[in-house]
Amino acid sequence: MKVLLIGGTGLISTGIVTHLLSRGAAVTLFNRGKRENRIEGEVEILLGDRNDPAALSRCVAGRTWDAVIDMVCFTPAQAEAAIRIFAGKCRQFIFCSTVCTYGVKIPSEVVVDESFPQEPISGYGRNKLACEELLMEAQERGDFETTFIRPSCTYGPGASLIDNLEFDPVAWDRIEKGLPVLCAGDGLGLWVSTHRDDVGKLFAYAVLNEKTYGEDYNATRDLIFTWRDVYRETAAALGRPAQVLFMPADWIVAHDPDRFGLLREITAFHGAYTSEKAQFDVPEFDCEVDYPEGAAQTLEDLRRRGAWRRCEGDAVYEAMVEKALAAGVQPVTL
Ligand SMILES: NC(=O)c1ccc[n+]([C@@H]2O[C@H](COP(=O)([O-])OP(=O)(O)OC[C@H]3O[C@@H](n4cnc5c(N)ncnc54)[C@H](OP(=O)(O)O)[C@@H]3O)[C@@H](O)[C@H]2O)c1
Repeated sequence: MKVLLIGGTGLISTGIVTHLLSRGAAVTLFNRGKRENRIEGEVEILLGDRNDPAALSRCVAGRTWDAVIDMVCFTPAQAEAAIRIFAGKCRQFIFCSTVCTYGVKIPSEVVVDESFPQEPISGYGRNKLACEELLMEAQERGDFETTFIRPSCTYGPGASLIDNLEFDPVAWDRIEKGLPVLCAGDGLGLWVSTHRDDVGKLFAYAVLNEKTYGEDYNATRDLIFTWRDVYRETAAALGRPAQVLFMPADWIVAHDPDRFGLLREITAFHGAYTSEKAQFDVPEFDCEVDYPEGAAQTLEDLRRRGAWRRCEGDAVYEAMVEKALAAGVQPVTL
């Protein structure tokens, strides 16, 4: 089984490659060689920038793959180039999409499956959906079989561990120092965090699985929790309780709309997804990493890489906390 990953050394990619190698696949990666390569095992590496279609085309000229997995396709132009380059050169094209292609008006009693309306509110989600549409047209023309995989929040060593406000939060350092942190609403918004080793399994075992041709899949674990659980379990991994100030999402965003844009587009809404369809078609996709274990691993890796975000000098966050306390908001201990 020959598989090419566009990307390959990133967060989810690392999980995919690990499982592909354990399947005995011959794995080729195409990336710019800028990332730390954490892959244990032998892979072929082709160096280049996917935004230079001529370079990508040259690198893969005269070769064919059973599957191409595209991990860094974010725009219709990138999807169009990939279609031109790989039409007739691979049996299956697996596109890494996102649950941000769904609408966000998700009632708390609804767990989103693949039939949920695709009404993205962010540019990121709209572009991913446009890529899905182009790739579906390519399949209909007979260029290759497509499989769309839509992760929601995926975490693990090599990346940061998001909180309710930020991709790379200052909150974990504050909790460790016994300082209050912020969370939007009542903290009961639904959320699911899936470890990259588990998400990687779905991609790796979807390869050449004919049931997945022409299909789309959420890629999440079953356990849906709330933001309160995220703070509580991450704090437990840090060995300190979290003192959480619950404030309205709009109030938080208004203090720095760019910095807290995650809330506006994603985390202020319920994000509960089911991956039953994936479990049914790809039975190897079982999620094994519990959040407390995965969070501890991720935090330790952030320290090891010197990527730990410190809270000192973060005047914006500190001022928000002081304002909330001065207004009489009581921190909740989690
Ligand atoms: N993490 C999440 O929570 C989440 C949720 C939903 C969807 N997703 C999707 O997951 C995908 C990201 O996958 P990942 O976690 O493996 O990626 P990642 O951690 O962002 O790593 C990106 C990979 O692509 C390579 N790369 C980046 N830019 C490139 C370029 N211009 N040309 C060639 N290679 C390039 C990087 O290596 P070099 O820098 O060395 O080139 C690296 O191997 C995205 O499609 C994203 O939309 C992620």
